[in-house]
Parts: sequence; structure tokens; C-alpha cells
Amino acid sequence: MHEFISDLIEHPKVRETLLHMHHSIPKHDHIMRVTRYSYRLARLVQADPRICTRAAVIHDIDSRYGTLWNHGEVAARFAAEIGEDEAVCAAIRSHMYPLGPAPTSREGWVVTVADKAASLADFADFLRGLLTGKSIQRRRVLKQTDPFYRPRRRRGALRRAFSIDT
Ligand SMILES: [Fe+2]
Ligand SMILES: [Fe+2]
Repeated sequence: MHEFISDLIEHPKVRETLLHMHHSIPKHDHIMRVTRYSYRLARLVQADPRICTRAAVIHDIDSRYGTLWNHGEVAARFAAEIGEDEAVCAAIRSHMYPLGPAPTSREGWVVTVADKAASLADFADFLRGLLTGKSIQRRRVLKQTDPFYRPRRRRGALRRAFSIDT
């Protein structure tokens, strides 16, 4: 799997997901789980593992600039900007199906299914971590490092006073 994505995982936009929260866990954990699942699934259904794994790494990049329905398009635009094939962009664009457009290729279906399965596994991880306190600690750290949370924390003294996260 690594040979398909070794350049991509060093990209600053991918590295910055280590600091971003997604499903209450680091976004980087989520995208790498989707990538592993996509790789396995691609082999199972004879889809192109290179297209599937590259689409999986990028599929949620800059997702906060879009909505639940259209952030696949946002990530697909980024993929096109860094020179990914249209097949990779298309698989990214449809990953939220049935929210948003339907996949148009086998690789698109692979990433869509892998994303759903990974999201469930993320949630199971989060629940397990609640028992040990790890999930709460991780959320607390991510709220400090994720730029999308910082402005909210500055909203007001009242919110700060009653926030359970600070
Ligand atoms: Fe997504
Ligand atoms: Fe995702």
C-alpha cells in the first residue's frame, strides 16, 4: 500500500490533519484507516489500488470548507490542483454518497464503502477510549490544535466559563 501513497502522505495538507479533529479523533487517523480499508477492498473487488488509496488519503482534506454534502467536491478540487488523475478526483467527489453524487467507478464505490466502515470504526474507537479517559484527553488536545475550534473558544466569557472542554 505504501508505494502508492508515499509521496502524498508527506504533503503538508495531509500532515496538518494530525492536528485536526474528525469524528472526535485526529483526522489523520481517519484518513489512514479509510486508506487501509480502501486498499483491502480494492484487492477484493479488483479495483485499482493506486486510485483507491490516493483518493482515500485526500478524500476529507479541507472538508470544513464544504458541507456534509459537498466537501467531496472541495477535496476533489484540491486533488486536481496537485495533479491527481481525474479517476482519483472522481472517487473523492462521490465519497459521501448517498449524501451528494453517486460513485461513477468501481474505485469510487470502494472509497465510499471504506469511508462508511472507517467512520463506524472511528466511533467504536472513541467509545472504547471513553472507558479509559483517552478519548476525552484526545478531544481536549485536538481542540487546542485544530484552528477550526480556536475562534469558537474565544466567543465569550460565558461560554468559556461553562465549557467542559477548557
Ligand atoms: Fe467525508
Ligand atoms: Fe471520511
